[in-house]
Amino acid sequence: MQAVFFVVTLFLTLFLVLSPTPLHAQEKEISPSRQGELIHLLKQDCGSCHGLTLAGGLGPPLLPADLSGKPPEWLRDVILDGIPNTAMPPWRPILNEDEVAWLVKRMLRGIRHGQ
Ligand code: HEC
Repeated sequence: MQAVFFVVTLFLTLFLVLSPTPLHAQEKEISPSRQGELIHLLKQDCGSCHGLTLAGGLGPPLLPADLSGKPPEWLRDVILDGIPNTAMPPWRPILNEDEVAWLVKRMLRGIRHGQ
């Protein structure tokens, strides 16, 4: 009986740990000045590989039309952890998860509109 309880608890814990957190559930407010910095980083740093207008360069284009079919959670993880064996670097040392979630939302909307 105890063993059954242990296994059930183990699976529940694994499920909770492994289930992806929805973007909106964990997102925190990003201050307006930090938002400005993030847009600057997107244009300058990401733009150095993905093109200043994000239309593509060394890295693929990141315009809303290019990203629309891709899950926001996947985009967030790619930005946080990079893509191994490619030029796409991990940004976790510089950006936290909330900032990347916010950036992904802005990228899906397009940074040319309204900023
Ligand atoms: C040093 C160059 C470089 C920089 C800087 C860079 N990237 Fe990338 N990125 C790449 C390359 C190359 C790929 C494609 C890797 C591959 O072959 O899958 C990529 C892939 C991606 C992808 C996956 C796109 C897709 O449709 O598969 C996203 C999203 C992305 N980058 C976002 C960003 C963001 C946001 C930043 C800035 C915070 C950034 N990148 C900075 C080179 C870069």
